[in-house]
Amino acid sequence: EKQGFRHFMLKEIYEQPGVIRTCLEAYFNNDWQAGDHEQPPVTLDIPPELYADLEQIEILACGTSWHAGLVGKYLLEQLAGIPTNVQYASEFRYAPSPLRPNVMMVGISQSGETADTLAALATEQQRRNGLDPAYHARLVGITNRPESSLGHLVPHLIDTHAGIEIGVAATKTFLAQLMAFYALALDLGYRRKALTEARIEEIIAGLRQLPAQIEMLLSSQDGAIEELAHEFVETQDFIFIGRGINFPIALEGALKLKEISYIHAEGYPAGEMKHGPIALLDSKVPVVAIAMPGTVYEKVISNAQEAKARDSRIVGVTSLNGKHATDVFDTLLPVPVVDELISPILSVIPLQLLAYHIAARRGLDVDQPRNLAKSVTVE
Ligand code: M6R
Repeated sequence: EKQGFRHFMLKEIYEQPGVIRTCLEAYFNNDWQAGDHEQPPVTLDIPPELYADLEQIEILACGTSWHAGLVGKYLLEQLAGIPTNVQYASEFRYAPSPLRPNVMMVGISQSGETADTLAALATEQQRRNGLDPAYHARLVGITNRPESSLGHLVPHLIDTHAGIEIGVAATKTFLAQLMAFYALALDLGYRRKALTEARIEEIIAGLRQLPAQIEMLLSSQDGAIEELAHEFVETQDFIFIGRGINFPIALEGALKLKEISYIHAEGYPAGEMKHGPIALLDSKVPVVAIAMPGTVYEKVISNAQEAKARDSRIVGVTSLNGKHATDVFDTLLPVPVVDELISPILSVIPLQLLAYHIAARRGLDVDQPRNLAKSVTVE
């Protein structure tokens, strides 16, 4: 079943190009181009009424799905211009935000069985029952299991089509959740005319490059990251930093490492380091900096420089041609240069591999880490 891979997690990391291809097929009209008004670019099954007068989106999720939601917030705000909040379902269920009209709730759960996410969505649905139509719950679910409890709870679903994921650490389902958010944000951006059609075409064209780019990344980086992992087998603390759309990827890199290698790791928005966490740094605490070309590239480089000045070893997830990259980073994990908006799909791959190889090297049960279950069906 593992098809020659040592663990399901590694097999699932390698399935990611195929998952992206399936999502592209499922979410976008193949032959749509700017100027084509016969068909929309995006083919999600969400009725236009759900988007009418939309003023806000609330995203509810846990764990890795919550990280996907943070990337989603960035996309929904930047591409569709809709103010978006991302909340932990376990917090929202006991302290829901004040009721407002014209809000769309998006629940994300790979398994569709996470108790907190289900409860948060059900709470929302109930408290809006019987109110004025503007206050009706507009519920959308994003899940890898359309037949799950989430699938039954919400009227509108985006299926992430990633196939069954066995490793407890979410990998391919995370990428598929990101793809669902690109589709949702582009659909909204198109219908609300928040984006030019040329920009939509450009982003979709960028997404279409991803499968080949991920294949290239896997074949060129896997061996190098396995080697690098040897050097971190005894490391006790890691810091991951990123900014903008790659801040959630810093959180995701840290979570992957924590859950399967049991190494303490924290993700931070790079600009926050100087407000406290920089005190943790010394030669024993490596920093993984995600510095993808774009609006915050120089900022992340200078934040990485500050960490280097505290003797931390700096691993850079970055493009090879990035200015100053080779001066700052002790180790480079190169990623192809793409539109900044698309970069999280590529920048997360070296972090998945890093967590995987460190855990495997430590001889741990990568697919079934201690104290964790694949779906958290209890509160
Ligand atoms: O099935 P869900 O997406 O609702 O699961 C949420 C979290 O339990 C899950 O993402 C967890 O954080 C993963 N093990 C992370 O790899």
